[in-house]
Amino acid sequence: MPNDLRKLPVLQQHFDRVVVLTGAGISAESGVATFRDSGGLWEGHRIEEVATPEGFNADPQKVHQFYNARRRQLSEVEPNPAHLALAHFEQNHPSRLTLITQNVDDLHERAGSNCVLHMHGELRSALCQSCEVKIRHLGDLTVTDICSNCSNPTLRPDIVWFGEMPYFLDEITEALITCDLLIAVGTSAQVYPAAGFVQTARESGATTVEVNLEPTAASHWFDLSVIGPASIKLPELLSSLSA
Ligand code: APR
Repeated sequence: MPNDLRKLPVLQQHFDRVVVLTGAGISAESGVATFRDSGGLWEGHRIEEVATPEGFNADPQKVHQFYNARRRQLSEVEPNPAHLALAHFEQNHPSRLTLITQNVDDLHERAGSNCVLHMHGELRSALCQSCEVKIRHLGDLTVTDICSNCSNPTLRPDIVWFGEMPYFLDEITEALITCDLLIAVGTSAQVYPAAGFVQTARESGATTVEVNLEPTAASHWFDLSVIGPASIKLPELLSSLSA
């Protein structure tokens, strides 16, 4: 593949409406663990115990501890060039980018992205199970924390767990059916509905590009697979779109 992605025929057009879907791989070079790589989060924890409503109901303190550790780590990591390139693209091309992330970290926002659709929720937010209000929460969460809206001790991590409906699906669907370019970065394409976004975009006639260290289960759906680290390949790709 030529170093200059601009030379690739599939990128030889102007794209007006770009959708970028990010997964854990975009934050890996910042030091945030992915889920399914070796040493990933799902090696050391059982999904059923820490990423399902049933797991939370069975042992809420254990689940709080899992997310408290990940929330605490946010202060130890920084955005990498991939996050920064997306923020610069948004600033230089206002209203041309829809950024969807499966990630619950705040690295896109800290890189300068202003409009981030966190379809799986956010570590910096708590959800009240009584009044369903979302509350910004940066410290540890415990079973005794009181909701500032309804005063009940019913706060949970504002994370979309397996079996729950992801956030922003209406906005995401609208973006996918109207985009002319979809870029999926650092996702293993193992979890739906995100893993199916490439097919929705293709059906709408969009060009589809995947950026990953290796081929994924969805690679055959993409017009172009760019193999390499997101911190190098995504800035290259986005700068080729800015030409
Ligand atoms: N650059 C690009 N891609 C990378 C990098 C990197 N530096 N490091 C890892 N990757 C890729 C891996 O090859 C893998 O394909 O990132 C992907 C990470 O895959 P997962 O760990 O499965 O993460 P993700 O796809 O975001 O998981 C989706 O699953 O468990 C749920 O809710 C959780 O949002 C998560 C969802």
